[in-house]
Amino acid sequence: MALSQEARARLEPDAAQIIGRYPVSRSALLPLLHLMQAEEGYLTEDGLEFCAEQLGLTKAEVTAVASFYTMYKHHPVGDYHVGVCTNSLCGVMGGDAILADLEDHLGIGDDETTPDGKVSLEHLECNAACDYAPVVMVNWEFFDNQTPQSARNLVDGLRSGPEGISPTRGAPRLCTWKQASRILAGFPDDQAAGGNTAGEPSLAGLNVAEEQGWTPGDDPAGTGSSGPSGSGGSPRRAAAPRPTSGNGNGKTK
Ligand code: FES
Repeated sequence: MALSQEARARLEPDAAQIIGRYPVSRSALLPLLHLMQAEEGYLTEDGLEFCAEQLGLTKAEVTAVASFYTMYKHHPVGDYHVGVCTNSLCGVMGGDAILADLEDHLGIGDDETTPDGKVSLEHLECNAACDYAPVVMVNWEFFDNQTPQSARNLVDGLRSGPEGISPTRGAPRLCTWKQASRILAGFPDDQAAGGNTAGEPSLAGLNVAEEQGWTPGDDPAGTGSSGPSGSGGSPRRAAAPRPTSGNGNGKTK
């Protein structure tokens, strides 16, 4: 897809804003690549050249980075990019079954898109949400504790319209792939402070620590290796701030 003059004129100020956030311009490459995905849905040859021009890099240098990270796509993906975690924990908890079932249900394989362009499928490796295994992501938003049936219901809903579909944690409503890419480029939407950001499984250890009155530096196991508590050593340190729901912390965008 060729980048039109109109698109260039619109994107250049955005690119300048992104580049201005970094002391060294080439550090802006990752968000610039997301910006191009927000415009075209994936990284076209024109998009790679645009990034190279803005940063004074060669197209080969830009391509080397763009081809390294799996969040950058080199062909069109769906409006809703569905990632199924098949890493160890999710795999044994049902992730492998979910991926196989979705491939059968949608009639597409890994890294493919439905003919209507609505949903694409990708197997992912650990999303750092293992306490909610098996996990599915849609445009990098979490859908926790899935089953083959719930994942089928999810993709069917996405194909008929995402209204009413909310991630388990994170933003209260789903963005399209392009909208999510623009957020990753550093232009947040109005959801940055919304939604639940921490669930009970993630807070279980913190809850135990609070119940027991433990603070950072304590040595509840009595190993004598992590702090002075109980040994008459130096003063206790203040407890770390507790994460709260709905404040935007912990989001990936
Ligand atoms: S193994 Fe699936 S989120 Fe970690």
